[in-house]
Amino acid sequence: MANNRLIAILPGDGIGPEVTEQAVRVIECINATHDTGFEIKTEPVGGAAYDIHGTPLPDCTLDLAKSADAILLGAVGGPKWEAIQRQHRPERALLGLRSALELFSNLRPAVLFPELAAASTLKPEVVSGLDIMIVRELTGGIYFGGPRGIEGETGSRKGFNTLVYTEPEIERIAHSAFKIAMQRNKRLCSVDKANVLEVSELWREVVSAIGQSYPEVELSHMYVDNACMQLVRAPKQFDVIVTTNMFGDIVSDAASMLTGSIGMLPSASLNSQGKGMYEPVHGSAPDIAGQGIANPLATILSVAMMLRSTFEESDLAAKIESAVRSALADGLRTADIVSEGETAVSTQAMGDAVIERIG
Ligand code: IPM
Ligand code: MG
Repeated sequence: MANNRLIAILPGDGIGPEVTEQAVRVIECINATHDTGFEIKTEPVGGAAYDIHGTPLPDCTLDLAKSADAILLGAVGGPKWEAIQRQHRPERALLGLRSALELFSNLRPAVLFPELAAASTLKPEVVSGLDIMIVRELTGGIYFGGPRGIEGETGSRKGFNTLVYTEPEIERIAHSAFKIAMQRNKRLCSVDKANVLEVSELWREVVSAIGQSYPEVELSHMYVDNACMQLVRAPKQFDVIVTTNMFGDIVSDAASMLTGSIGMLPSASLNSQGKGMYEPVHGSAPDIAGQGIANPLATILSVAMMLRSTFEESDLAAKIESAVRSALADGLRTADIVSEGETAVSTQAMGDAVIERIG
């Protein structure tokens, strides 16, 4: 049995606690059946933490996140906390964790499960077999650049942010993306706005230079506006996309919707040592929170990503993924992915179904 396998569970807000509960059951099941020795500790984050500690990212949570080998986060945010000051908003916890743990490489797969092809708003022939990986730079760019602020007198105030990338920041995310492309179909598209922005010009130059070390990967460049258009026109042309923090935020939402089921998509945010924070792509969905109907599969699939990327347990990851596929193939559907005439199962029942199939 391996040591040092501490997983921090940060359930967060809205449906976060419900979906992480099922993911924790999956981890416990893996522990019981495979003697993997994962240890689990839980702390609040986001609005839930603000309610208790007066801050969305209290020390107890940050300390646990720092000491853990991997973090599983549910979701943060909700209408209850929208009116509070910007630095106390739940979303700040996410940005704080990303930056404090240097989780610079954010992997957002957009995969269409064949059983759910009908859920996409795009024609089946456009999306069937879709399997894209978006690699988003997560700790730099305009999200974190300075100077930033709002200044001046009412009526003539100015608001400003800074879009900045250094060569080392571009190099490390480029390496991350090329390595992922090497494990996939060896095609990488770097998305920028080099026709307008100097920082994109540098981005393009540095990504191309790093590409010299990966001669097997076919590198292309695309402007972000065109990339958005191509994503809805012919998404299967993409294998891996690498881009900046803000472009990645936008492009990954568009890509996730191609699959029609955002409730299915996991994500990973990694640092240079392979430590990672794993979370479902969907948000806290306050409208359905507490009803026991949320889809836990994105969070369960995030556990699979965690096993593969942080703990190098690819076989176990594959086991979870195939349990999910088999539950879908057997017709189990939560409310978000149910088709007309089918009956939706609860969050718990979907968790049960996956666990039975891992067992
Ligand atoms: C995401 C979210 C966050 C982001 C918000 C909640 C700060 O939209 O993870 O994509 O913009 O990065
Ligand atoms: Mg986003």
